[in-house]
Amino acid sequence: MSKNSELQTPNSKLQTDWEPKIVAFLCNWCSYAGADLAGISRIQYPPNVRIIRIPCSGRVHPLFIMRSLQNGADGVLVSGCHPGDCHYISGNYIARRRFAILKNLLEYVGIEPERVQFSWVSASEGEKFAKVVEDVVEQVKALGPAKRLVKRKADPH
Ligand code: FES
Repeated sequence: MSKNSELQTPNSKLQTDWEPKIVAFLCNWCSYAGADLAGISRIQYPPNVRIIRIPCSGRVHPLFIMRSLQNGADGVLVSGCHPGDCHYISGNYIARRRFAILKNLLEYVGIEPERVQFSWVSASEGEKFAKVVEDVVEQVKALGPAKRLVKRKADPH
């Protein structure tokens, strides 16, 4: 047994083994296709993301994000088409404005705003998608597990 492992408490071991869960809402027309391209091009990215396909980033209600955090996600990624490319004209602009406001709300209620990330990824940007996922996972890892909105089980005694 090395000197370092002797110093490790069970909690610190858990901390180093911990991997964040990221819920990713991806627009069907661009980012989902970008994720698909990353997959078929065999571009490696962290397996921490759970992808939810949505018709447009403008479809993501802030409650979806809050519910994700409440139900155990440590971070949330919303990704849509680049500005000017939204298939519903302005869905991504609406989403961008909505998330700017949501970040203020998160800060106000004591949740690190960095847990929620927004990005533009097109259908031809498989490598960019992988990079975005890597960045989000790194940022959320640095923050540690999300505890603020997680429901605690009632003590049976
Ligand atoms: Fe992709 Fe609107 S269709 S963001």
